Amino acid sequence: MYKIVTKTCLCSKIKSMEILAPHVAKNALAGQFVILKINKNGERIPLTIAGTKPNNGLVKIVFQEIGKTTTLLGSLKEGEFIEDFLGPLGKPTKIQKYGKVVAVAGGLGIAEIIPVISEFKKKKNFITTIIGAKSKEFIILKSELLKNSDSIFFTTNDGSYGIKGSVIDVLKKNIDINEIDVVYTVGPILMMKAVSDLTLKQNIKTIVSLNPIMIDGTGMCGSCRININNKIKFACIDGPEFDANSINWLEVISRLDTFKSQEKVSFDIIKKECKCQKNQKYKKEILE
Ligand SMILES: Cc1cc2nc3c(=O)[nH]c(=O)nc-3n(C[C@H](O)[C@H](O)[C@H](O)COP(=O)(O)OP(=O)(O)OC[C@H]3O[C@@H](n4cnc5c(N)ncnc54)[C@H](O)[C@@H]3O)c2cc1C
Ligand code: FES
Repeated sequence: MYKIVTKTCLCSKIKSMEILAPHVAKNALAGQFVILKINKNGERIPLTIAGTKPNNGLVKIVFQEIGKTTTLLGSLKEGEFIEDFLGPLGKPTKIQKYGKVVAVAGGLGIAEIIPVISEFKKKKNFITTIIGAKSKEFIILKSELLKNSDSIFFTTNDGSYGIKGSVIDVLKKNIDINEIDVVYTVGPILMMKAVSDLTLKQNIKTIVSLNPIMIDGTGMCGSCRININNKIKFACIDGPEFDANSINWLEVISRLDTFKSQEKVSFDIIKKECKCQKNQKYKKEILE
């Protein structure tokens, strides 16, 4: 069992937790993730390791409540426990000196990119970070972004913070005026595809951190399989990072919808029964 030591609400649906998991905290590197299970019969979900405090045995996760498991996780309190917390999983980011690195992150990718840019910065790369969010509320972890970037642009869809528009407009302008050595992107799949469509035309090396559906995290179940240069790879053991040039995007996008109808059924049940989380008896029942 793994204790939730701290819990913070970053905005209405995004929460951050520090979990006591000394083995993971000691061994985790930027770009890796954990697979957790809330209770004995719960589903396993992958979440990026958003930071660690190895001396305290703590691992930080940041998640958005979008379905059954993330909503249940968000209902847990400091001091409560989760059943399984497996990691670190996946290949860490290759950290090296590229020169000028542009990091493009949207949605939950904002939390996921922080450990990566922090390591790139330690290698004396010049980091330009481009952040995209729906609105001001979803610009999370701003001080950590600022600390780890040499130059930073914020964009929001509604213009409530930073530049009104998308990360792609800002990236285009950066490409026009700067020599860029590598682009690293993480976030919603359509955003990552748009980034790679743009950068590949300009021959800029682009690394994407993919987030396909995962179950076991060991390369056995096949749910996270990706077609890379016409070879089957598994994001859980060969990734989650891949060279954008090698990805069959249409396949990656369509596979994300594999369990959409079942996910909707589970989430509808949770929403209906919880309305929401005030019914502690119900929460206890579903967690047991
Ligand atoms: C390597 C990796 C790292 C990830 N890191 C994070 C993270 O740090 N924080 C975070 O909030 N989420 C992260 N995710 C996504 C996270 O695993 C899913 O949001 C979670 O599994 C949803 O579970 P659920 O039961 O709450 O929702 P579900 O009911 O399973 O899904 C709800 C909705 O989310 C969509 N969805 C499910 N899985 C994914 C996915 N992998 N990518 C995109 N959409 C998905 C479904 O199609 C559905 O529309 C990561 C995924 C991977 C593969
Ligand atoms: S999650 Fe099962 S093969 Fe990758």
